[in-house]
Amino acid sequence: MIQARRTNTLLEWHRKILNVPGQTVELRMLGRIMILTENIENVRAIMSTQSTCFGKGATYHKIWSSFTRDSILTTDGHAWHTNRSHLIAHTGKIRPTDYVVTKRHTQNLIRVLSDGKPHDTLNQLNRFAIDVVSDIFYGSSTNTLLTNDQSLRDAIQHHKNVNTWRLLFGKIGAWIPPDRKACNVIDTYLDSVFHSFSLEGPDSPEERDRKAQTLLGVLIAQGVPEKVLKDQLAAVLVGGRDSVAIIVTWALYELVRHPNIMRELRAEISTTHGKSDPPGPSELEGMELLNGIVQETMRVHSSVGLNTRTALKDCALPTGGGPTGKSPIGVLAGTALVMCLDSIQRRPDIYGPDANEFRPHRWDNKWKPDPWTFFPFNLGTRTCLGKNLAVMEVKFVLCRLVQAFSSIEMVEHIGGEVVVVKAEEREKMKTKLAFNTKPAEVVWLRFKK
Ligand code: HEM
Repeated sequence: MIQARRTNTLLEWHRKILNVPGQTVELRMLGRIMILTENIENVRAIMSTQSTCFGKGATYHKIWSSFTRDSILTTDGHAWHTNRSHLIAHTGKIRPTDYVVTKRHTQNLIRVLSDGKPHDTLNQLNRFAIDVVSDIFYGSSTNTLLTNDQSLRDAIQHHKNVNTWRLLFGKIGAWIPPDRKACNVIDTYLDSVFHSFSLEGPDSPEERDRKAQTLLGVLIAQGVPEKVLKDQLAAVLVGGRDSVAIIVTWALYELVRHPNIMRELRAEISTTHGKSDPPGPSELEGMELLNGIVQETMRVHSSVGLNTRTALKDCALPTGGGPTGKSPIGVLAGTALVMCLDSIQRRPDIYGPDANEFRPHRWDNKWKPDPWTFFPFNLGTRTCLGKNLAVMEVKFVLCRLVQAFSSIEMVEHIGGEVVVVKAEEREKMKTKLAFNTKPAEVVWLRFKK
C-alpha cells in the first residue's frame, strides 16, 4: 500500500485488491484492522443507513485537527451536528453576490494565464479557488492570484502532505507531530481574518452589506465564540478550495485530450450566449455538454477517490464476507473503513465497457445513473455542503476560460524549450493521493487568446 502511494498507483492497487466476490477485503496493517470496499451495499450502510456507527473517529481527529481544527471535517456526533448547523445556512444556496465574486476572480485568473507562458494549471486554479472561497465566506479575499506571496498556500499544501502520510499509519501516525511551522502560518491567517473583520471603512454600502451577510459576518453578529467561529472558517477553506481546483484542472486536461469535445463545447457556448459575455446562472444550467463534461470529469477523476471512516462501535456490514462474498461482516470498534469511490464510479458492470473512458455525451438527455454509483459530493448524512456553489464555480470558470482563449495546448519542457505535445496520444496521467486525489504530475497548459 505504501509502495502504491509512493508510485501514485494507489487507486489501481485498490481496484486490483477489490477484484474478489463481494468487492470487500479486510487487511491488517501495523496491528490495525482495515476494511476496504467498493461494494455499494456496504458503502450505503456506512454513509447512510448505519451512519451513526461510523464516523471520522478519534485518530482522524487527532491527526487532522492540527489543520482543520474541531471543525465539521474532523468531528462526529454532537460536535459535528453543531458545526453543520453553523454552516448549513451559508453554504446551501448560491447568493447573487457569490456569482459576482466568482466573476471577479475569474477575470484575475484570465489575466494571469494571458501571458503566453505555460502554466502549472492546478497551481493557478488553486490560487483562484482559495481567492474565491475566502472572499465568499470571509468577505475579504486572499488575492493570491495578484501576489507572489504564496506562503499560506504552501503551508496548507505541506501540512496536507504530512498529514496524509500520518493517516496511513493510523494510531502510530497520530504520535508523529504535524508540521508546526505550517500550523502557525494557517493559525495566524485565521486570526487575522477574524480580527480584521470590520463593517466600517471605505467599502461601498453594497460591499458592506455583502460582508455582513458572509459566514464570518453572520457568525460574529450571532456572538459565536472565536474558537468555534475559526473552526467554521477552517472548514470552508479546506472544503472549498482543492476540490474545485482539481475538477477544473482535470476537465481542462480531458478537453485538451479530446479536441472534438472542445470544439463542440465552443459551439455550445457561442450558440447559448455568444463568444465573450459571461454566462448567467440560467445559461450555465442550460448547457447540456458543459454539464456532461463536469459530471464526467467528476466520475472519472473523483477528487475524493478514497473516503475513510472509523467504526465508532462494534457493528456489522451487510455483505461482502464469506467465500461467496455475500455474508455480513462483523466490524470491531476502531476498524478503519476505506471506500474506494473511484472504483465504483468506473465499474464496467455499471458503466459499461467504456467505463474508464471520458465520454461526456453519456450524460445527454439528462441521463442519470443510480445515485449510489455516482456521488462526487457524497450521499447520506455527510453530504457536501458546498455542492451548489462548487458546480456553479466549476462551470463558470470552464466556460470563461474556453471563451477567453481560442487555443489551450498541452506543453512540456525539454532542454529549456517549451514543446507542444499531442495530448490525445499521451499515456493517461496517474492520480496521486494527498488528502484529495489529484493529477500525479504537473498539467502544463499554455493559453492563447
Ligand atoms: C467540486 C468541488 C467539491 C467536491 C467534489 C466536494 C466533495 C465533497 C465530499 C465527497 C465530501 C464528503 C467528505 C466526507 O465524507 O468525509 C464533502 C464534504 C464537505 N464539503 Fe465539499 N466538495 C466540493 C466543494 C466544496 C465547496 C466549494 C465547499 C464550500 C463550502 C465545500 C464544503 C464541504 C463541507 C463543509 C463538507 C463537510 C460535510 C460534513 O462532513 O458534514 N465543498 N465535499
